[in-house]
Amino acid sequence: MTIHIGAAKDDIAETVLMPGDPYRAKWAAETFLTDAKLVNEVRGMLGFTGTWNGHRVTIQGSGMGMPSLSIYANELITEYNAQTLIRIGSCGAMQNDVAIRDVILAQSATSLSTPSRGIFKEINFAPCADFDLLHKAYHAAEKLDVTTHVGGIYSSDVFYDERPDLTEQMTRHGILGVEMEAAELYNLAHRHQRRALAVLTVSDHLLTHEALPADQREKSFGDMVEIALTAAFI
Ligand code: ADE
Repeated sequence: MTIHIGAAKDDIAETVLMPGDPYRAKWAAETFLTDAKLVNEVRGMLGFTGTWNGHRVTIQGSGMGMPSLSIYANELITEYNAQTLIRIGSCGAMQNDVAIRDVILAQSATSLSTPSRGIFKEINFAPCADFDLLHKAYHAAEKLDVTTHVGGIYSSDVFYDERPDLTEQMTRHGILGVEMEAAELYNLAHRHQRRALAVLTVSDHLLTHEALPADQREKSFGDMVEIALTAAFI
């Protein structure tokens, strides 16, 4: 048990999928895992462990934003020995050729700041995905026939951004989409020599202002789970 995770030490698998929403963790575990068992419900941040094609996997909610994700990822890494951590979540598109429902594989994650800012100080560290996971996720997405983009994303501290100039600069510099967790997940993976990747579905578009209808979110989320599991184990 840790401060925020009530699971016993060996209740957590070496591979952990991390959706922001704990109810998405429940849905993914019930839909994709065999013998899924609830292993955490502290603060309602649900986590489940089961098997996928014989491979043991945990699906643990991270909450929204880097401070929340940092708590769960730190405890999973340092107390439960998680080796592979894959964020599965949504993002807002920042390029015209990225559409609603497309998948973005985050090769790197730009930020204004992260919970690691204090230790990096003057260093503008460039947090990157694990290449092996990225490569396998790309091929898994191709097989599912999902339109997939690989490139840089922006991990923001705010959902309601008061800085349109920032979006403009990100778009100008080829950033594909914005979300709120990946940069710190990648920082932690670098720090502890673990493997990390963020697989993101485009749920809204910052340039066209479209949004994915609620009834279509489940199908897109399912594709992401399948891409993440395939990348981790195949
Ligand atoms: N996650 C999904 N859409 C987002 C957006 N527009 N900004 C930040 N995080 C997001």
